[in-house]
Amino acid sequence: KSRKQNSVKLFLNLVTFDGLANSSSYDTFLLDEERGRLLVGAEDHVFSFDLVNINREHKQLAWPATPSKRDECKWAGKDLGKECSNFIRVLQPYNQTHLYICGTGAFHPICAYLEMGKRAEDNVFRLASLFENGRGKSPYDPKMLSASLLIDGELYSGTSADFMGRDFAIFRTLGDHHPIRTEQHDSRWLNVFFIPGHFSNPDTDSSDNPEDDKLFLFFKENAMDGEHTGKATIARIGQLCKNDMGGHRSLVNKWTTFLKARLICSVPGVNGIDTHFDELQDVFLMSSKDPKNPVIYAVFTTSSNIFKGSAVCMYNMADIRRVFLGPYAHRDGPNYQWVPFQGRVPYPRPGTCPSKTFGGFDSTKDLPDDVITFARGHPAMYNPVHPIGGRPIMVRTDADYQFSQLVVDRVEAEDGQYDVMFIGTDVGTVLKVVTIPRESWHDLEEVVLEEMTVFREPTTITAMELSTKQQQLYLGSALGVSQMSLHRCEVYGKACAECCLARDPYCAWDGAECSRYFPTAKRRTRRQDIRNGDPLSQCSDLQHHGSVEDRNVFGVENSSMFLECSPKSQRALIYWQLQKPNDDRKQEIKMDDRVVRTDQGLLIRSLAQTDTGIYHCQAVEHGFIQPLLRLNLQVIPTNKLGDILPGFPGTGGAMGHSAKHRVWYRDFLSLLDHPELNSVEEFCDRVWKKERKQKKAKAPNGNGQGGAAKKRLTPRQFQPPVHKL
Ligand SMILES: *[C@@H]1O[C@H](CO)[C@@H](O)[C@H](O)[C@H]1NC(C)=O
Ligand SMILES: *[C@@H]1O[C@H](CO)[C@@H](O)[C@H](O)[C@H]1NC(C)=O
Ligand SMILES: *[C@@H]1O[C@H](CO)[C@@H](O)[C@H](O)[C@H]1NC(C)=O
Repeated sequence: KSRKQNSVKLFLNLVTFDGLANSSSYDTFLLDEERGRLLVGAEDHVFSFDLVNINREHKQLAWPATPSKRDECKWAGKDLGKECSNFIRVLQPYNQTHLYICGTGAFHPICAYLEMGKRAEDNVFRLASLFENGRGKSPYDPKMLSASLLIDGELYSGTSADFMGRDFAIFRTLGDHHPIRTEQHDSRWLNVFFIPGHFSNPDTDSSDNPEDDKLFLFFKENAMDGEHTGKATIARIGQLCKNDMGGHRSLVNKWTTFLKARLICSVPGVNGIDTHFDELQDVFLMSSKDPKNPVIYAVFTTSSNIFKGSAVCMYNMADIRRVFLGPYAHRDGPNYQWVPFQGRVPYPRPGTCPSKTFGGFDSTKDLPDDVITFARGHPAMYNPVHPIGGRPIMVRTDADYQFSQLVVDRVEAEDGQYDVMFIGTDVGTVLKVVTIPRESWHDLEEVVLEEMTVFREPTTITAMELSTKQQQLYLGSALGVSQMSLHRCEVYGKACAECCLARDPYCAWDGAECSRYFPTAKRRTRRQDIRNGDPLSQCSDLQHHGSVEDRNVFGVENSSMFLECSPKSQRALIYWQLQKPNDDRKQEIKMDDRVVRTDQGLLIRSLAQTDTGIYHCQAVEHGFIQPLLRLNLQVIPTNKLGDILPGFPGTGGAMGHSAKHRVWYRDFLSLLDHPELNSVEEFCDRVWKKERKQKKAKAPNGNGQGGAAKKRLTPRQFQPPVHKL
């Protein structure tokens, strides 16, 4: 009944909006905490849901493509049923009363203003009749991913801007300025085919000067020519200045401050070959106490068809800035390779936002030609951005699903602050995971708190929003929208120990039940221990169960071992945990063909050296965990046994062999059951002494069998039966 044994189950308190018969793709979310609404863009429709309960009188608007655009789409060879609809892809707040909304419009992108009223009470939800061209705002093809952000009346979009989906760029449209974009069809520039992430908040930049406002964006692109990554696609972070107006003679109406760097998320492998996670799926920005240094969480999958894996990496804003201030990637050398640029960088340094106070340039239009030329030739940084700690904080490689979405909540618990990740998958499930620093950010323990199915059928989770105000999570997929609470403390059982073992920072034992933890509440009555999950320290009722017996037991490598331990009570279950040598943590023992749980104890077939450790046998009843026995198992290597038991039979094959064998066995087993022996060395010493004594008794002349001492035991010769301890 421990949390780790919680199997994936349909989330019972799930609130679902099952979707309309004539719609799909509930992919574009906008959380409006002020009005208490969740806006969702889908195929041909926009919805406005109540954040408290999405099933409570939601509003919906139909915005299909016109019949003539649908016909054109069909004539162009597209699938009328699947592609020739208006898939809403942009849903952004425009001003106090209106949202800006764009859709694919049956391969003819279109935008409009959606009136919401100033306050929730205004109860307005209608499309204004003025439509605008959606090119460079929404993709044409609904299969193409895109991202957008509207700030200060300007819309930043990463999208494909043509029918074929070949011209992918970063655009800025709306507002008073001329639209601006990244260069078209230039292989040195963006080979992006989509932007899965979000633009970050502009106020995260290092400078307080508003002229130096930067945007950061995340995307995936084809690796540049000659970039020896061995990868077709790589993940990128890009930066650009909000006040970029394009160049004057060159880069007219194109970004002049755009720079990009590679985002690395990999695990070191054997043979020094790293496993790279390059398919960026989602990005989440977690603001910290220092608003200029948020932490960025990113979800990646592998691009391999053979190896299915997912990972979460965390990045530091300071590391990202450092990379953008580092060397530019430059093509040079006999093989025309990418090397760090070591020549003179023109002033002001490309990528710096134009500012009167810093560099003395009012506008990118005034930048010297050499700056523009350099910027055009050096869009990428040489150094990649590495994750915090140099590796992912979470990796899944053995699962039959992949991660698709991520949101993170920072939770205040009794013993500190924890980031709880909600990870959406491509099979309609959500993983709730807390990462607990052991000593530092570089050493995190990942605890999966729950794994829940949130859609009735397996489907990729394509949108996720978290409302801290409502303490709810909202999820979108092709099938509809689901809503779940961030915490369900009641699932952790009806006992202090269970509540504590769950290590869910949202929950604590309040003396009567496992309930929501509020950091402000009176401390003394609350029981919680996220860092260690130790019920003994928290639940005083557990401390009166008497002392636990410790025993030393010995097993021989490649033989079987039975660790006897059965509960006194019929209803109790036995819960086994293993604590490996030099490790404070206890891990649940996974049962399989080799390690079998029986009513009387634990059977381990074919002992290996790695089975060495302390076996904690614990009874679980009514959610209370009571330690019964600690068995310190030491595994004696077979070669060692060969050395210390020169007289051990096995090679002879003589008539008396089996009788001799049995005698030897009895002695051997009597030794195995000696709890006072503390180590393999002590054990071997004892066997050795006993052997000598027996030899002396049998052969008083001490002639011995010199040759036998050299004989070594081979594993096949030594196959003791299962024995009990
Ligand atoms: C889809 O069906 C709903 C009724 O369930 C209707 O209100 C809406 O207008 C329909 N949408 C389109 C695009 O026909
Ligand atoms: C918001 O923008 C819309 C569309 O341009 C406009 O009609 C409306 O008056 C604006 N509202 C406010 C409060 O400025
Ligand atoms: C133990 O048995 C396995 C196969 O069951 C074998 O590969 C291994 O070499 C054996 N170990 C020793 C020390 O002989």
